[in-house]
Amino acid sequence: MRIDIITVLPELLQGFLQESIIGRAQKRGLADIHLHNLRDWAVRRDRRIDDYPYGGSAGMVMQCEPIDRCITSLKAERRYDEVIFTSPDGQQFSQPMANQLSLAENIIILCGHYKGIDHRIREHLITREISIGDYVLTGGELAAAVIADAVVRVIPGAIGDEQSALSDSFQDDLLAPPVYTRPADYKGWRVPDILLSGHEARIREWELQQAMERTARLRPDLIKK
Ligand code: ADE
Repeated sequence: MRIDIITVLPELLQGFLQESIIGRAQKRGLADIHLHNLRDWAVRRDRRIDDYPYGGSAGMVMQCEPIDRCITSLKAERRYDEVIFTSPDGQQFSQPMANQLSLAENIIILCGHYKGIDHRIREHLITREISIGDYVLTGGELAAAVIADAVVRVIPGAIGDEQSALSDSFQDDLLAPPVYTRPADYKGWRVPDILLSGHEARIREWELQQAMERTARLRPDLIKK
């Protein structure tokens, strides 16, 4: 899949996108992520892309024209399944949403900044607004990174061990069971005996019980769902 991220701070995302699973997925050709500096589409000579809001309220607003020019140039090259705007007003991001977006061929993520973007962009160009939580970030870049990471890691082949993405917390509305590695006894802190038993079926049963117990205790809202 291809993800085009439109931002005024491409440097903020550059390093992140080259690391770990998301970096590897790109090297393997599973994901193709492009950063676009919105200032490259500015119409003013000083490369500014914001202006004062009509009505006299405080803060600056991102203008229509640079955003429209950038999105229009991308759309001239290929068809996009979604044009996403990161905003605290959006639909709350979730694992099912990440799974669904991972099936898309091409998506655009527009990172918001300042006080917001000219509302006409949201009305005419944005197909989906996504929030990563009920708090306000300085810009949409961290939200775009969160969305891209969660989407790319569920693309088949992005994670070496495919089972591992499926057993993530939230894939089945359950938190993941605890995991342990060597040594089996560290300063007297012992790994549960069942995991050393070699009894595959009982281990899977224990993991499910642990996942249910942890979910009921830590996230009872997920059980109700
Ligand atoms: N931009 C600012 N705050 C945000 C949030 N919580 N989610 C997505 N984008 C944002």
